[in-house]
Parts: sequence; C-alpha cells; structure tokens
Amino acid sequence: MSNQDAYNRFKEMQAKMLLGGGEDRITAQHERGKLTARERINYLLDENSFTEQETFVTVRSTDFGMDKKKFLGDGVVTGSGKIGGRQVFLSSQDFTVLGGSLGEMHAERISTAQLDAMKNGTPFLQINDSGGARIQEGTLSLDGYAKIFRANTLSSGVIPQLSVILGPCAGGAVYSPAITDFIFMVDQVSHMYITGPDVIRAVTGEEISHEDLGGAKAHTFKSGNVHFRFSSEEECLVFIQRLLSYLPANNKELPPVWECDDPIDRATPELLDLLPDNPRKPYDIKDLINSVFDVGSFIEVQKDYAQNIVIGFAKLNGHTIGLMANQPKVMAAVLDINASDKAARFVRFCDSFNIPFISFVDVPGFLPGTGQEHGGIIRHGAKLLFAIAEATVPKIALIVKKSYGGAYIAMSSKALGYDRTIAYPSAEVAVMGAEGAANVIFRRDIKAADDPEAMKALKIGEFKETVMNPFIAAGFGYLDDIIDPAETRLELWKSLEMYLNKKEDRPKKKHGNMPL
Ligand code: HXC
Repeated sequence: MSNQDAYNRFKEMQAKMLLGGGEDRITAQHERGKLTARERINYLLDENSFTEQETFVTVRSTDFGMDKKKFLGDGVVTGSGKIGGRQVFLSSQDFTVLGGSLGEMHAERISTAQLDAMKNGTPFLQINDSGGARIQEGTLSLDGYAKIFRANTLSSGVIPQLSVILGPCAGGAVYSPAITDFIFMVDQVSHMYITGPDVIRAVTGEEISHEDLGGAKAHTFKSGNVHFRFSSEEECLVFIQRLLSYLPANNKELPPVWECDDPIDRATPELLDLLPDNPRKPYDIKDLINSVFDVGSFIEVQKDYAQNIVIGFAKLNGHTIGLMANQPKVMAAVLDINASDKAARFVRFCDSFNIPFISFVDVPGFLPGTGQEHGGIIRHGAKLLFAIAEATVPKIALIVKKSYGGAYIAMSSKALGYDRTIAYPSAEVAVMGAEGAANVIFRRDIKAADDPEAMKALKIGEFKETVMNPFIAAGFGYLDDIIDPAETRLELWKSLEMYLNKKEDRPKKKHGNMPL
C-alpha cells in the first residue's frame, strides 16, 4: 500500500470512528435533546485538550452476528484532557452505537482509563448513556462490569470519581456510579434503576413512568442516590467544572487555594439577629452559611435529600472546606437515619481528600420513634460517629444554639475528635432539652407542687441556668471559646488556620469495620 493509500485509509477510518453509530443515530440523539458522547467531552474539557485512548478498538465477540456490527471505538470514547487547566481521565458512552451497551472491549476501554487515572493521580469522570450489559456478549459483559466496579473500588479515596448520568443507566450498570463519590443527573434525560418500568409491571403489577421511577427528581429527593440535579446537560457539565475547582486531584494533594478578595475580617453583625427570640420559631441555617464563607462560594451537596442536615463545600479565605450544618427549618434539625447517612458519607469524602471540615450545630438530638428504631437508627447514627472519630483532617465545630445528647457528640464533641469547638453566647449543651430533663429529674417535685405548671417552669429555668449555659461546658474545657457572632468569619478562619498543618496518625490496620 502506498503512503497515500495508507493515509487515505487512516482518514476514512478516522471519519468512520468519529461518526460512532452514524449520522442518522446522531440526529436521533439530538432529537431527544441529548448531546453525543464526543460533544459532551468537547463541552466539558478545555479546548483541544482531549487525547483519546484505544481509539480504534472493536468488538471481538462474533456471537449473534456481532462480527457484522463492528463499530470503531465500540460504543464508548475514553481518554484524558484538562478541566480548568487540570488533568482528568474520562469515559463517555455513545448511545448511537448499540444503545451504548457495554460489551467486553467497551468495558476494557473504560477500565483502562480508570486505572490510568489512578496511576496518574487525576480525577476520573464517567458519562453514562447506555442500555446496560450488551446482551449479545453475555458473560463477557458481566466480566467487563466487574472490572469497572473493581477499579471504582480501588480508586475510592485515591482520586475523586464523578458519575454523570446522561441517558439510561439500568441493571447492574447502576453500581459503578453508586461506588463513585458524586452522581449527577438531568431532568427528563437521565434514568437509573435496577429494573425498569416493564419489569416492575410484570413482577408487581405496578405502573410507573421512567421519570417517576428513576429520574433525577426521584433520586435526588427520594432515594438520595444522586447528589446533583440539573435541567440541561450543559448546565450539568459547567457545574462539574466548578466542583472540580474545589477538589484536589488525589488523596496526596491538598485542595486548590484560591485568591480571596472577600476580607477575612469582614464583620458579620447580621448574625446577632440570626436566632429568633422565640426558640420554637425556626430559622434558616443557610443565612449563617452565606454570611460567613467567601461570598458566593457555597456549593450544596444533596440539597433535596434529608434537608434536616445541610452539607456542601465552601471557601474560607480561599481554602476549600467541607461543611455539615443542622437545619432548624426542617424537622427541627433532628438527626434521623437519612441525615446520618448523608453526613457520614460526606465526612468520609472530605477526610479522603484532605478537606478540613466545619460543623454548624443546632440540634435537639437523634429522632425518637419506632420507625427510626426499627429502621436501624442505631447503626446509621453510628456511621456519623465513626466517620467523625476516624477523620484526621482539621475538624472545627461552632455551636449556634442547641447541642444535645448523642447529636452533641456527633456534631461538636472534642472527645470524639473535633480539634476546636467554639460557641455563640446562646449555645446550650446538655444531655437533653430543659423540658425533657425537668420531666425526668424533677417529676416528683412538679407532681407534688400546688401549681405544677409554675413549678415546671421554675425547674426548667433552673436547669437551663445551672446545666445548659455554655460557660458550664466551657468550664470543663469542652468549648474552647465563646465568640461574638459578629466576628464569626474571622473566628472560624483563625480556628481553621490553627490546624491547617495538623498531622494525626491512626493505628496501622487493613481498614476499620464501619457500621454500614
Ligand atoms: C444490546 C442494546 C441494549 C443492550 C439497547 N440496545 N440496549 N443492544 N444490549 N443492553 C440497542 C437496541 O437494540 C437498539 O438497537 C439500540 O440499542 C437503541 O435502543 P432502543 O431500544 O431503540 O432505544 P430506546 O427506545 O431509547 O430505549 C433505550 C433503553 C432500551 C431503555 C435502554 O433499549 C432498553 O430497555 N434496553 C435494554 C435494557 C436492559 O435490559 N439492559 C440489560 C440490563 S441487565 P437497534 O439496532 O435495534 O436500533 C444488566 C446486567 C448488568 O445490565 C449486570 C452487571 C453487574
């Protein structure tokens, strides 16, 4: 073959490869309001930064006529490129090729990119748009999934892993995203489920749409499987660029520090009025969050799920922090099963990637009730305790108002491992609220009194004054300081700065046995 012929063949193959399943299928993809696999990569990555891996891979299986359905690249695009000037590895499934289904070589490409991401210490992103295991390839597909799950697991805690669901993600395919750190979905575009509506109808007789069963809303509000929901693919991809700018590339690096033009000594006098005079009137903890961190820097994670606890990333003097905050506006901020799971997993992410975290505390305790007890609140609540105690990153707590019982320990206790706990003058630290406590320890006095209600009020006041005021806990050294709310931003920064170089070792072991 002459050089010219070889070149022509190369150009022909390249053009074929770039077209995936062909022009008609690309048109069909666009008609569904979806971008193609390559368009998504181009949108996400810095211009001209993409380098493809294993570009001309094709299917090896010959069963069920697969030898006549060879597509260059085998239905997925993989490789490496830059986001905001920082390297990432990624895969993007091509629905135009056999519905993005995953066969042997398709899986091989993804797991190569995964393992290379780990070798290079760079984040891995997978864009999923697939009908699941390629049925014609049988166990070869299952083996492929197993390789991907294993690589996801080995990479966990080494590099950030993000899963962007931009189409179907069905059957066992859902487990790869579930192992990764964050999942993103788009309304009407993304669907995730173990079995779809047809199987559910056949097995249980239940009628449900794809969107109601496994759409973005279902997973962000109900199942809690998904962390971020968007109304368009473009909005989702732009957000991913922003999120990555808060994170280190791997577990050996520190998160990027930004220039900060928000003065760190900016006073926050508005916080003097944060707490309503009537303790039964809820307030929005996000007012505190938005006041103290660098302006506009807060990114809420899982904002629609277990809203009684708020988690997310923010910047403080340009440094990334992980935040966990009780939300008095929802269920009086009580900790339940879902809130414990949500917060515990987030704490573990922060600890894996050297992100210091701060907790804002106003919590009456763990939620009582048969449903919670029988649902395993003991085990789920223990996850949060375990995650905090295990974490070695700097941990700072600010007690805003109530910090009671086991929830006090999880959210703010130095004995559990918080490096520094500070409090507002209005803070209350106790085993339980004054009313509950009075009902237990002063029950007899109240019953015997001529005016039981007046006696109860008296005892509640006594209890508050002698046990709950913050100077009692501060007297034991459980609170490092009581601060002026107007100086919250500076106080938090100074607290964090004290521990930025913190090194803490743990006994050598294979791994702990976290209550799961
Ligand atoms: C092979 C597949 C495929 C699959 C889709 N296609 N899924 N080919 N294996 N899993 C092909 C279709 O045959 C079709 O090819 C093309 O992709 C586009 O699919 P359509 O059905 O036309 O598209 P749409 O109407 O949008 O429906 C998309 C879909 C549907 C909802 C994903 O295709 C579907 O239900 N697919 C099967 C899903 C499934 O059961 N997967 C296996 C799950 S079990 P042609 O050439 O006809 O256009 C599993 C186990 C993994 O994944 C376990 C791992 C541990």
